[in-house]
Amino acid sequence: MKSIWNKTVCLNSFPVLNSDVSTEVLVIGGGITGLLCAYMLQQAGVPYILTEASHICSGTTGYTTAKITSQHGLIYHKLNKKHGSEKTRMYLDAQQNALNIYKKLCTENECHFSVCDNYVYATNTGHKLEKEWNTLQTLGFNAAYVKELPLPLSVTGSIMFPKQAQFHPLMFINSISRNLNIYEHTAVKSIDNNIGYTDHGKIKASHIIIATHFPFINRHGMYFLKLYQHRSYVLALENPDTPTQLQVGGMYADEDSAGLSFRNEGNLLLLGGGAHRTGQKGGNWSVLREFADQHYPGSICRYRYAAQDCMPPDALPYIGNYSSRTRNLYVATGFQKWGMTNAMVAATLLRDKIIGEKNPYEELFSPSRSVLQPQIAANALHATINLLTPTIRRCPHLGCALKWNPAEHSWDCPCHGSRFTENGKLIDNPAAGDLPYSK
Ligand code: FES
Repeated sequence: MKSIWNKTVCLNSFPVLNSDVSTEVLVIGGGITGLLCAYMLQQAGVPYILTEASHICSGTTGYTTAKITSQHGLIYHKLNKKHGSEKTRMYLDAQQNALNIYKKLCTENECHFSVCDNYVYATNTGHKLEKEWNTLQTLGFNAAYVKELPLPLSVTGSIMFPKQAQFHPLMFINSISRNLNIYEHTAVKSIDNNIGYTDHGKIKASHIIIATHFPFINRHGMYFLKLYQHRSYVLALENPDTPTQLQVGGMYADEDSAGLSFRNEGNLLLLGGGAHRTGQKGGNWSVLREFADQHYPGSICRYRYAAQDCMPPDALPYIGNYSSRTRNLYVATGFQKWGMTNAMVAATLLRDKIIGEKNPYEELFSPSRSVLQPQIAANALHATINLLTPTIRRCPHLGCALKWNPAEHSWDCPCHGSRFTENGKLIDNPAAGDLPYSK
């Protein structure tokens, strides 16, 4: 499965580690988060090494819709309710700062970058929009309430964030990664005493950043309780006969996580949706195809792809020390569906921690904060049910029963989202290897 991004860019390649080395910072994971961490460290003059188990951007970054926006669904009312107005304001500031850093970097690095407005719409009752609107008014943010959208659906209304952005993420990565210190096909299998162990050599580092999407160390941080994964699907549609039919002139997402999202990339429309918890049933590409047949007759699917995101229980990512007991071990995860701005927030925050600069958002995103939320109990129950489900195919991460995903022909784990091919080869972590009977 290839996305529009990895079909249209040939990514830089990097060598395999072939000896023991030491450095100041080891960054594990070559998605946008790890790469931005490496970039920020390089800019700050800090020696580092980035390792990637496969090739860079082979995970979620290569399959994103690449919207750079501070508008993360109707998150601000939710944050206000859970964390209060001061933290809500800080979250908005952190995202807007991230957007501004992209605006600067993207003008220096060719990547189809364009500034456009972002809309979150509702199709049923408008009361959630109203609450979000009231929170944004209290925060003094320059949003707008828009009633009509150029989409083939009937909406109750929408909230617009002005001057957000979209880009080609892999063009951007290709440009910023050119001179970074990266080893590909170099999986860090374990970490002990500030040493990362790979099959090709040891890497000793004063600081280690885990940027592997789902954190892979289970003995600290309890991420297996604090995260689950949510999968969503994209069709890239073209209509050679009526290209204007597919132009939407902005970025749009339903406030309901099961709804649809829209943005253009050139003459294509990226139609997203069909989301579900990994390992459970959901709409997948079939709901998108149905929608396209009904509303964009004559459209052709040029690419179809899917990705999954790590979902925290309190609507805040985990960025900072891996746990309260791991001083020089850091993590960046739990970005929900909003990996572009949160990756930038993580890269600047972790750089600041490492160089000893105060970062205003450190406490907000601290992975050691209390996350006693109903979602934690739901995750625990989910895991217990799937651990007790009798089946031969079990996930090597923590032993849950795998479920067959007929849309993608894969074995998916409902507990934390590991995925495997029909033949048992690992596709998505946190599992660290293939199924025992893989061919
Ligand atoms: Fe954790 Fe499968 S991903 S048990």
